[in-house]
Amino acid sequence: STDDEQRAFDALIDADARIEPRDGMPDDYRKTLIRQMSQHAHSEIIGMQPEGNWITRAPSLQRKAILMAKVQDEAGHGLYLYSATQTLGITRDEMTEQLIEGRAKYSSIFNYPTPTWADMGAIGWLVDGAAIVNQVPLCRCSYGPYARAMVRICKEESFHQRQGFEILLTLMQGTDAQKQMAQDAVDRWYWPSLMMFGPPDDESPNSARSMAWKIKRFSNDELRQRFVGMLVPQAEVLGVTLPDPNLRWNDDTQQYDMSPIDWDEFMAVLKGHGPMNAVRIQTRRDAHEGGAWVREAAAEYARKQQQKEQA
Ligand code: 3HC
Repeated sequence: STDDEQRAFDALIDADARIEPRDGMPDDYRKTLIRQMSQHAHSEIIGMQPEGNWITRAPSLQRKAILMAKVQDEAGHGLYLYSATQTLGITRDEMTEQLIEGRAKYSSIFNYPTPTWADMGAIGWLVDGAAIVNQVPLCRCSYGPYARAMVRICKEESFHQRQGFEILLTLMQGTDAQKQMAQDAVDRWYWPSLMMFGPPDDESPNSARSMAWKIKRFSNDELRQRFVGMLVPQAEVLGVTLPDPNLRWNDDTQQYDMSPIDWDEFMAVLKGHGPMNAVRIQTRRDAHEGGAWVREAAAEYARKQQQKEQA
């Protein structure tokens, strides 16, 4: 971008204004948004799989309907985010190819299995809870299409979080076996949900620029702390124990002291060695190949419609 464009861009950022698709922008600003937004979109789509695993086995018709609505919401979130990313000059096909060829990142959290119904509660409460803490500040992101997509997504996320909390509350008021199932799910999802916020601030290569460009409004560690602060009182209401014996409020630092997070596990999952990485990508690939005929039929129909209009 030319010097004038750079100056105009800097003025918009300094004024906390929105950058729109037609505005001049530094190549690196465009690149980091394509990086983050496409990964966010992939996360929503892959995130449908862990919960999809329980739609046919939900314990009641009402739970089935709620879970189906939540998974459909996530498909919609993925579409908003792919569309917003396309305004930066990458095509939907390119992003899909990156994902099914295993070349794209998506949130580490979706590479864990969902062995019991209580996982539906833990995912709603912890994963969607973390997603809300991370996504609310993104509603004020400097890039217009991303910020606007977030406003709509955040409204639906709060329903996702509440229904998860409610599933766990129901189980914690049930039999001992149900209480144990809920606690087991919280034990398995707690640490991976803290990893969703990204590596520690001093090991976060993108943060400095993302914050200077007002894409990232709060650091990874700040949001992680905010999330834990939200969880502690809710865990008490639920009667579940957060699986960190060292978790306690530190009055001096005004932060939670917590046990060290296993960043080796995080890096292994990012490298594709999580419990479910291969399954998630293969399932997405199968869906893409299985749906090719629909895309071809729709494209052919659109072509014929266009021919009629031009005739
Ligand atoms: N999973 C996978 N990769 C992660 C990650 C995670 N949890 N956290 C960080 N990373 C990657 C980053 O993408 C980056 O790699 P890259 O440069 O190749 O993209 C690297 O680790 C270093 O991390 P940084 O902190 O430097 O990267 P960012 O500044 O991008 O911060 C982030 C990471 C906080 C996740 C940021 O990208 C972000 O806010 N993304 C948008 C939110 C998002 O993707 N949320 C997914 C949550 S799940 C969801 O939304 C579905 C919900 O509906 C259930």
